[in-house]
Amino acid sequence: MHKLQEATKYLQQQLDKKPQIGLILGSGLGMLADEIKNPTKIIYQDIPGFPLSTVEGHAGQLVIGELEGVQVIAMQGRFHYYEGYGLDAVTFPVRVMKEIGIEKLLVTNAAGGVNQNLEPGDLMLITDHINNTGQNPLIGENVKEHGVRFPDMSSAYDKKLQTTARQVAKQLNLNLKEGVYVWNTGPSYETPAEIKMLATIGGDAVGMSTVPEVTVARHAGIRCLGISCISNMAAGILDQPLTHEEVMETTEKVRDSFLQFVKQLVQEIG
Ligand code: 6GU
Repeated sequence: MHKLQEATKYLQQQLDKKPQIGLILGSGLGMLADEIKNPTKIIYQDIPGFPLSTVEGHAGQLVIGELEGVQVIAMQGRFHYYEGYGLDAVTFPVRVMKEIGIEKLLVTNAAGGVNQNLEPGDLMLITDHINNTGQNPLIGENVKEHGVRFPDMSSAYDKKLQTTARQVAKQLNLNLKEGVYVWNTGPSYETPAEIKMLATIGGDAVGMSTVPEVTVARHAGIRCLGISCISNMAAGILDQPLTHEEVMETTEKVRDSFLQFVKQLVQEIG
């Protein structure tokens, strides 16, 4: 609890306006934070209690300011479980955002397409998720002030926010796909047999993030919206190996439509 208060106090001292919406920006999607006006940028290492970056080139910062007239707090770079951080560390920034007063969280990621109807470059509205890891950030003593012991996950992704996302996509003539996001720990990508299994259990896309943050956000009563950028097809769907380079190349290609979509979304839900 102490750590959380310290981080919150540290950030509040540097802010004059209260952010309304939290943004978590996934691999290759961090450029959205560069669109924030009058930004206050705070590198993670400077925030008391924030996880210490162990991985080089993965620094990351909070960018706080105005996006389309809405006060936002954005994570440019997130902490992944596969990097060796505990799930308490991975989700700590969400707790901090809650303390700062955000009520809505927009989470983005790059994900592999499992459903054959998806293709690289698609944006997918996350309608639900499958936690395929056996891990959960809420394991351990429950802090009552943070939320209930057994949080409901039947509306992990807010229905109203989903409706808004569909409307915004329509306005922009964007072919927004929809589906269920599966969280695997990584860092290895899946085998073709594993992808077949994920399709069978109802997964449409697979990635290595988002579910811990959304789980903690729901525990805290934050309404969530999730968008995946389908960066590649998962193993065994196309006859080609998977590389991180492909993930980065695709996110670069969809960059403009992604930016436009998220900016318009923030304007509508802010
Ligand atoms: Cl195919 N799998 C996982 N776990 N994460 C990914 C991915 C695949 N493509 C992008 N991120």
